[in-house]
Amino acid sequence: MSAKLADPTTSTLLLKNFSQLTAEAEMKMAAIVAPDGRLRFSGADAIMAYAQQNKLRVHGHALVWHKHEPEAFLRLDGNKPAFTAMYDNYIRTVMGRYRGRIPSWDVVNEPVNGDGLGLRATMWGRNLGDLGYIERAFRIARETDPSAKLFINEYDLELKPEKRLAFMQMMEALLKKGTPIDGIGTQSHINIDMPKGAAKAAFKDLASFGLPIHVSELDISFGHRRFDWRSVRTKRALQAEQMTDFIQAFMALPEKLRHAITIWGLYDSDSFWRVNPEDPNPDDEPLLFDGAGRAKPVTAAFANALDGTKAALHVDAG
Ligand code: G3I
Repeated sequence: MSAKLADPTTSTLLLKNFSQLTAEAEMKMAAIVAPDGRLRFSGADAIMAYAQQNKLRVHGHALVWHKHEPEAFLRLDGNKPAFTAMYDNYIRTVMGRYRGRIPSWDVVNEPVNGDGLGLRATMWGRNLGDLGYIERAFRIARETDPSAKLFINEYDLELKPEKRLAFMQMMEALLKKGTPIDGIGTQSHINIDMPKGAAKAAFKDLASFGLPIHVSELDISFGHRRFDWRSVRTKRALQAEQMTDFIQAFMALPEKLRHAITIWGLYDSDSFWRVNPEDPNPDDEPLLFDGAGRAKPVTAAFANALDGTKAALHVDAG
């Protein structure tokens, strides 16, 4: 990402259209925790320097995530006191380094099982309790930077109502324990075939907590049907319709519940879904700009659906 920011064309497109930045990888454990347990910040610092120089707000992503279970933590698996000390120290050091400079963080990312059945089994949960690791991360985060807004971030909340239900049950349990959660991140990796009304139903449920909602990783994939004979033109039109439906549903929320909208990348050619090792789709066009930085039907749909309310939003680039 920091290499991409050094490209003047990319930087110009970014600064012209966005006011906030999320690092796609540089602020995650995989980038920060070295095999020997030392913490490295060159990538994260480069992103911060660029953002500060260009007056972009930064959204921190992500302190604790099931996909990144670094070797240094795995070595302490089962040794609760040592594991806990390393866990606390990680959150304190990372958040502390950017205290007062990163106004919002994804503290825990993707805590619910992919199939939507309850909480995900992780190394964090094994050592600190399935709900305990989440609660602890938020408490340490709050202590470390009381000015930062603390988010819990999850995917498929629009596409899978049963997963949303598990997420809501988890939220209720966490809030009942007094966990200092300030906002809900819905990643919103959606697709052109998502049923109409799905976004509206999701926002209605999520808004019931009265916490601000961050659309934290929005993109609209052409989907993963094996035999999809629809033309690219048709897919682009469906994508624009989906965007309108989605943004209108978000904008219908009361202003105080709309934290921001983040788009998960700038150019289609950089989208994670093109190269996703689990299911690569090299022809996907999920973002707002094509490989040459040109707008597409979905771009106009996005801008029109936001129209008149832009000032209330921070539109971000992942
Ligand atoms: O920085 C190294 C580079 O030095 C090395 O040469 C290169 C070779 O593979 O890898 C680079 O790191 C890659 C990094 O992206 C930066 O491009 C990692 O291998 C790669 O795993 C990493 O992928 C990111 C992935 O999360 C895992 O961290 C994607 O860019 C990012 O889009 C994706 O984002 C996630 C969200 O955090 C959570 N929600 C789902 C979303 C998509 O999976």
